[in-house]
Amino acid sequence: MAELAGAPVPGLTRLWTHDPTTAGRYRLLGRLGAGGQGVVYLGEDDAGNRVAVKVVNIDLSDPRTRSQFVKEIAAARRVAPFCTAQVLFAEVNGEQPYVVSEFIEGPTLHRHVRERGPVTGNALHRLAVGTATALAAIHGSGVVHCDLKPDNVVLGKDGPRVIDFGIARALGVTETASSRVMGTTAYMAPERFRNDAVGPPCDVFAWAATIAFAAGGSPPFGSDSLFAVMHRVLHDPPELPALPPVLDELIRECLAKDPADRPDAERVLVRLLRQDATVTAPLPRESLLEVGNDTAGAPTPNHPLPQPAPTAPQPRPTSPHAPARPTVPLQGPPTPPAHLTAVEPRVGAGPGGAWRRIRGEALDAWGISTAIFLGSAGAAAGYVASSAIGPAAAAGAVAFVVVYLVRLLVAAAVGGGPDRG
Ligand SMILES: Nc1ncnc2c1ncn2[C@@H]1O[C@H](COP(=O)(O)OP(=O)(O)OP(=O)(O)O)[C@@H](O)[C@H]1O
Ligand SMILES: [Mg+2]
Repeated sequence: MAELAGAPVPGLTRLWTHDPTTAGRYRLLGRLGAGGQGVVYLGEDDAGNRVAVKVVNIDLSDPRTRSQFVKEIAAARRVAPFCTAQVLFAEVNGEQPYVVSEFIEGPTLHRHVRERGPVTGNALHRLAVGTATALAAIHGSGVVHCDLKPDNVVLGKDGPRVIDFGIARALGVTETASSRVMGTTAYMAPERFRNDAVGPPCDVFAWAATIAFAAGGSPPFGSDSLFAVMHRVLHDPPELPALPPVLDELIRECLAKDPADRPDAERVLVRLLRQDATVTAPLPRESLLEVGNDTAGAPTPNHPLPQPAPTAPQPRPTSPHAPARPTVPLQGPPTPPAHLTAVEPRVGAGPGGAWRRIRGEALDAWGISTAIFLGSAGAAAGYVASSAIGPAAAAGAVAFVVVYLVRLLVAAAVGGGPDRG
């Protein structure tokens, strides 16, 4: 684990001799990893905002390839930011195309399971909810991930985040690079091997295989030889670890051989959330994603999601690639520059959360009673002062409205209200 700017970044290694040192406005600080699609670097702009820069192996000189790439990345940029790492920008004009996305601090699910063992209890439930929320958001924008697997889930401080959506599709889903196929086969749906049309159900299959891996430490169709795995995916039932009954049933349905027999991502999310007492009625999609996002990120004291190692200030390494700058502790996701930021704000952390609190507070019986009581007091004071019904009623109404509105504003600013025990 390398340390840059005073904080350890899981999996970060130094740049290789022939690696680029910049990508557009971003200085490249080190390698986050490499897969079949290219190399991923940690980038930083002059303001200290950190991003993941994936320099992709693709030749965009053919106009059709280039237009497909541009179209898929544009679609990925429109995905609502629920439990995903937002795609911020793609450069297609230079010799080395690259895609810039939100940098999520934390280990991948694959790394976490390898180093710390399977995910259990509440953490497993939140992982399932968070990744299903991401998938529902991705599919809701008409994007198919095509490469969901434990390497493409990062366990961030605020819950799991799905990365790399749409990139496999932008590069063309027919893979030839054997290293990539090896790493991905265990999560591929049967229709991928039959060369049938690839759509959202293949992501649902990959989601279920990913959660089974998280719970048991190995994928449900094995990971030995490529052909043995393919044969099991096509013909055998999955081998699942011990799971809570609801999750076991859901995962088996999602691993159905026929894509038509699998539930869609929204249905998966609804079924996961039904276990939570808070969701009792059907929800519109936006609210569903919001609840999923909150459920995945909500901290619980007993079983917190895995956190990266503590980030105590460290001496700066002397790297020939990293120019000297002040020590900056790693924060959560960077705030991307305004011109790169996708249109939607993160719901739950921003105005969406405030709006939810206002709606809750607006119907809070205790708050309405307080406003009526103080309104009556205002009317009484008005009557004492004027000895007339009209001004007294006006004073009462003003007092009621002011108390009611102040409560809503306080709820929007600091929360509380309906959560009161
Ligand atoms: N947005 C991101 N935030 C944080 N880390 C990232 C991000 N994107 C990629 N990484 C890191 O870079 C590593 C390499 O990613 P990459 O996508 O190249 O490989 P992969 O996921 O193993 O394979 P594939 O090419 O099939 O996606 C990941 O395992 C992860 O650790
Ligand atoms: Mg990846």
